[in-house]
Amino acid sequence: MSTQPHDTPLLEVEDLVVDYRRGRTSFRALDGVSMTIGPGECVGLVGESGSGKSTLGKAILGLTEVASGTIRFDGGDITRLRGAARRRLAADLQVVFQDPYGSLDPTMTVGRILAEPLTASGTGRAEARATVAEMLERVRLPADTVSRYPGEFSGGQRQRIAIARALVRRPRLIVCDEPVSALDLTTQAAVIDLFIDIQRETGVSYLFVSHDLGVVRRICHRVSVMYRGECVESGPNETVTRDPEHPYTRRLLLASPVADPRRQAERRRSRLGLRAAAQGPVA
Ligand SMILES: Nc1ncnc2c1ncn2[C@@H]1O[C@H](COP(=O)(O)OP(=O)(O)OP(=O)(O)O)[C@@H](O)[C@H]1O
Ligand SMILES: [Mg+2]
Repeated sequence: MSTQPHDTPLLEVEDLVVDYRRGRTSFRALDGVSMTIGPGECVGLVGESGSGKSTLGKAILGLTEVASGTIRFDGGDITRLRGAARRRLAADLQVVFQDPYGSLDPTMTVGRILAEPLTASGTGRAEARATVAEMLERVRLPADTVSRYPGEFSGGQRQRIAIARALVRRPRLIVCDEPVSALDLTTQAAVIDLFIDIQRETGVSYLFVSHDLGVVRRICHRVSVMYRGECVESGPNETVTRDPEHPYTRRLLLASPVADPRRQAERRRSRLGLRAAAQGPVA
């Protein structure tokens, strides 16, 4: 685990701008976004589709070009790291995507999929095998998983495999882009609990992207809200997911399902009230 004091951010994003080319014009997908993530912290990133959540994740992972602003990891500037330096950073910075099937090679056994990041970075085979076994245990999958193929597993199990793969190099930050959105509600809850346990056990930090305020409420310490490429609100989980300031976050909150049927009914009334107020008096 990190030896740095807890008030030093592990990740610092400052005034980040990302433009995508669209034919001859360009589209500003991130417009001056700033945020920090501390060691052992989970920061949620919520917002509607197209608000720039994945773009921020990609910029941090070096998967998209940055127009201006800086991204610092553990105090070092990683904004434009490429090649060998970026590959070295992969030991500390990992990712889990929404679709575990697309990101797991169906022709390789799970054992090989999990060992590859280790052997490719010079770990001996015996040590790699031991680490893979440890990580499978960490994601609560049986040891014989190593000899099977991704296609033999359910969505939830595949996502556990993807999490194990992100963990094998013992990273300090994992960018999780909608990691539970493709799962049914029960599996979603189990995988969220797994993320929470792993964080407690390892001290890893998460940037947890989700369009679902209910999901980030369960797992995140702090939450940032994206709207059209800007971060419009950020603060402690309790404040942002229960008593948000920005009107957009309030709309998002009213749209997020809650487990309690009575509160659900209250929300529905309140949402209808908002809509009626917006439409004005009915003639
Ligand atoms: N490679 C690209 N080229 C051009 N435009 C892009 C590209 N990737 C994303 N965009 C645009 O940038 C904006 C932000 O996209 P992004 O994928 O970051 O949104 P998001 O918040 O992750 O949405 P979702 O919840 O649907 O995943 C969108 O308008 C999208 O169409
Ligand atoms: Mg996205």
